[in-house]
Amino acid sequence: MAVVGNDIEEAAEWIKKGIPIAIPTETVYGLAANALRPEAVSKIFEIKNRPFFDPLIVHLHHANQLEKLVSSAKKEHFLLIEQFCPGPLTILFPKKDIIPAIVTSGLPDVAIRFPAHAMAIELLKLVDLPLAAPSANPFTYISPTQANHVAKQLGDKIPYILDGGACEIGIESSIVSILNDRQIILHRKGGISKEELEKQNWEVLEANSPEKKLPGSHLQHYSPRKKIIVGDLNALYLEYKLQHKIVSIAFEKNDKLNFVPDFYLSQKGDLNQAASRLFDILHQCDASDADLIIAEKVPQTSLGVAINDRLQRAEQKA
Ligand code: TXA
Ligand code: MG
Repeated sequence: MAVVGNDIEEAAEWIKKGIPIAIPTETVYGLAANALRPEAVSKIFEIKNRPFFDPLIVHLHHANQLEKLVSSAKKEHFLLIEQFCPGPLTILFPKKDIIPAIVTSGLPDVAIRFPAHAMAIELLKLVDLPLAAPSANPFTYISPTQANHVAKQLGDKIPYILDGGACEIGIESSIVSILNDRQIILHRKGGISKEELEKQNWEVLEANSPEKKLPGSHLQHYSPRKKIIVGDLNALYLEYKLQHKIVSIAFEKNDKLNFVPDFYLSQKGDLNQAASRLFDILHQCDASDADLIIAEKVPQTSLGVAINDRLQRAEQKA
């Protein structure tokens, strides 16, 4: 079983040995390994049971690491970094050969992120290596936002979980690429909202055409093992309460609900709080004795867009 601790030196030792370990970030926990060692990276895929066509994000602590790893970075790339990094934004860059093909699933671009979590930054500085890290969950399952989520899901497959507390943001980073000048494509909706990007004068194009779809952006993703249905909570409760043991997730406290829900994403209706609690609540619902999870969508603004995206994918079965 994995040791759960806060010893950054021990974490660094495992990384240097080529063994993946779990690390905290401000979005979700990652399963990290030296991005420059293909055998270490391949262990990540094995542990997660992740298909090799789904590429990994490379984590850095400083923009001066970029020169060795990426080619033809434009001034717009550096502008995005200046505006949003460290933070929940992942940016695609043309890669140099030093990045092994296994990291990018053979694609010419590498996804780069500067996490804003003090322990992650300290570890990145100590190992002084780029770390490839997908979310530390089995493929298609709910992402982990606490060390105990990782321990439950992958504890028998990794030696160490660096415990940095509950993730502040709670949903994955937004992924963007630069199209030209001030135009960017938003490939994955996450911790930085479209509005925040637009506020900095970026024209944000949504990646909904199939050719712009990211590898690995499967419809079914972030799923609990139990069946989950997303819709109008009162109607769903009425329809299913007789045949099922239901566990319910409401967005906020209000008087429209005809029953008392088991969980509120945020009693006061705060989307940031809702994002930070979403995956933990899904984990708790999955561990409950209910056989059906019902949930409602949240307002489709700012982080609500990413929350609704995760709920919709959680509902989808392959
Ligand atoms: O917040 C996050 O981004 C977290 C933390 C740990 O940093 N990481 C994360 O990684 O969510 P993961 O592996 O669960 O999702 C990475 C996704 C891939 O599924 C793929 O869609 C996209 O990022 N991606 C990664 N590298 C890419 C590349 N070279 N080209 C296109 N898409 C890429
Ligand atoms: Mg993931």
